[in-house]
Amino acid sequence: METKVFKPSEVGAAAQLIAAGQLVAFPTETVYGLGADATNVTAVKQVYLAKGRPSDNPLIVHVADLATVERFAQPLPEAAKKLVKAFWPGPLTMIFKLKPGALAPEVTGGLNTAAFRNPDNAATLNLIREAHTPIVGPSANTSGKPSPTTAQHVLHDLDGKIAGILDDGATKVGVESTVLDLSTTTPAILRPGAITAEAIERVIGMPVETEQHHVGAKEVPKAPGMKYKHYAPDAQVYIVDRTEDWPAALKWAAQQKVPMGVMATNAILTNNPLPTNCEQFSLGTDIQSATQELFAGLRHFDTETNIKDILCQAFDNNGLGAAYMNRLNKSAGQTHFSV
Ligand code: TXA
Ligand code: MG
Repeated sequence: METKVFKPSEVGAAAQLIAAGQLVAFPTETVYGLGADATNVTAVKQVYLAKGRPSDNPLIVHVADLATVERFAQPLPEAAKKLVKAFWPGPLTMIFKLKPGALAPEVTGGLNTAAFRNPDNAATLNLIREAHTPIVGPSANTSGKPSPTTAQHVLHDLDGKIAGILDDGATKVGVESTVLDLSTTTPAILRPGAITAEAIERVIGMPVETEQHHVGAKEVPKAPGMKYKHYAPDAQVYIVDRTEDWPAALKWAAQQKVPMGVMATNAILTNNPLPTNCEQFSLGTDIQSATQELFAGLRHFDTETNIKDILCQAFDNNGLGAAYMNRLNKSAGQTHFSV
């Protein structure tokens, strides 16, 4: 099929496709999502097929308002209402207990809970409203690859497999939303994102669990997505932990005699002359820009160069850095450059 590219002003045509059970990729403030009518089981099944995603990994339901959540979920805890007020629309996904049978097992992975999110993108909020239905949306990448932060990334993975894409340029945050489980007594962050644990605790006035527990083969993971290989580019990524490690890392890179990629902030790039076999991809000035550019950089080396090894800068593992390091660690399979 031909994948049609829609501008935000053409959202009506994109909404008609969703309402007709077709797949349309959509922009959010985090990454692009692969959209389908959350109440149409046939359409939802197509989402798994297009992505090559294991069918026990549940989807996020994107809504334009809280009333839609209340139609599907059991009465919301007080904390949820405070968080909605503070952070919606925005990069916070919340997991609630469902009314029995409210959503198909294809959406929930057979769980009695579902993840809801109100994305901060005007075109996509219009898409949901004009399709008159909530929209499921996993990240619009081939399963296991870095999430897409531009329409071009989506087309690279899914051109010809989906009916359309709503193109609203590059996303602002660059990594997926924080996933917060509110279906249990103690709220737990299942995936770190731009809404930090500290920010959530400040709003709800109680501690949240943040432990990134390691999922063994027999353990049942809390977020089913945590057990799968993620964000893995074709290239091997080496994490460079400290600013002072860069001279040694680049010396090592020079000795490899093969083309190498270097992903770092401008300060690092300015202070460390690159060997001739290295190509740089700037992560900008700070943790914000680095998070925004991380997936784009990994995709750049995979799709636009023949580079198979990438050195990439680490950040402190707190605040937005927790989200950045979570994705970088998975991309690198925990591989660090060691001096
Ligand atoms: O920023 C985002 O969240 C993006 C944009 C498109 O909205 N979406 C996204 O979706 O990242 P996806 O499917 O790639 O990641 C959803 C995560 C998965 O790890 C999944 O296992 C978890 O949320 N999840 C969904 N429903 C769940 C549930 N009921 N219980 C536990 N985890 C759930
Ligand atoms: Mg994903």
